[in-house]
Amino acid sequence: MTETKKDFIDLTQFNKDELIFLIEDGINKKNISSKNGMASVDEDACAKDKILATIFEKPSTRTRFSFETAMYQLGGKTIYANMSDMQLGRGETIDDTAKVISRYVDIAMLRTNKHSTLENFAKNASIPVINGLTDKSHPCQVLADLITVKEKIGDIENKSYVWFGPANNMLTSWIHAAQIIGFELRICSPKDYSVDNNLVSGFPNITTDLDPNDAAKDCDCIITDTWFSMGEEDNDQKRKILEPYKVDAKKISMASSDAIFLHCLPAHRGEEVDADVIDGVNSVVWDEAENRVHAQKSIIRWCLS
Ligand code: CP
Ligand code: NVA
Repeated sequence: MTETKKDFIDLTQFNKDELIFLIEDGINKKNISSKNGMASVDEDACAKDKILATIFEKPSTRTRFSFETAMYQLGGKTIYANMSDMQLGRGETIDDTAKVISRYVDIAMLRTNKHSTLENFAKNASIPVINGLTDKSHPCQVLADLITVKEKIGDIENKSYVWFGPANNMLTSWIHAAQIIGFELRICSPKDYSVDNNLVSGFPNITTDLDPNDAAKDCDCIITDTWFSMGEEDNDQKRKILEPYKVDAKKISMASSDAIFLHCLPAHRGEEVDADVIDGVNSVVWDEAENRVHAQKSIIRWCLS
């Protein structure tokens, strides 16, 4: 196993300067990339002659497409696999799978149910491994979100962010970012679906247990996500408890006048967010989705450097 391979598992592996480098690298290269076509190869194509494997245990639209587009723009190729089509379903271990795939490709991205599956794959692979979402975290998405904040508001650190909805993998990566960069993160979740205190204790810039009726006051960025993550059963009781946490026009009106609305998508209009918010003037969700490509390119460049 190579000692020097660079896995991208969680934002916590980076310090502030390193995380800011990844954000700025994404933006800088986005601004100089050629616009001839989505597969136009960048001048400094760092993935020329390289193959990225994208391996999914759960569905995906953005992560799959943005990783493939990112790899083409970096001069490389991709191989997609759904885990249910692989021999894993017939009992081959994740450890053996990682060793075998390391003989075919140069870098791998995995979306897994359990975070431990990703960690075991990374431990047994001799190639860089990227977290494309697990039950614990979604660092690629939050990197794209931070790129979007920087582009739209110009500053990340001295801004205030409010999370509305249940604690989940997205929130964990937002908490990691707040811990590294030091921005104000207000977490507005109902008690039944609140964040584990161990994750936030010792960080005065992160507050919890806020009243959904005034949590958004003067904030710069409102964030939400689906109330039911992939693999989670639909539950009417949970939906009822979360109703006051829906992002609606009233919450947006309390925020700073140029506040932005982020949602990693897929969204459920009328559930976690009203249609007039996600389709309204404060919403930057389409740029956010586009920035997945630029975030993935920054991550792949880092992994291969
Ligand atoms: N936001 C995100 O990761 O989207 P997909 O599930 O479509 O990849
Ligand atoms: N929390 C969501 C994010 C989807 C990109 C999920 O895990 O389904």
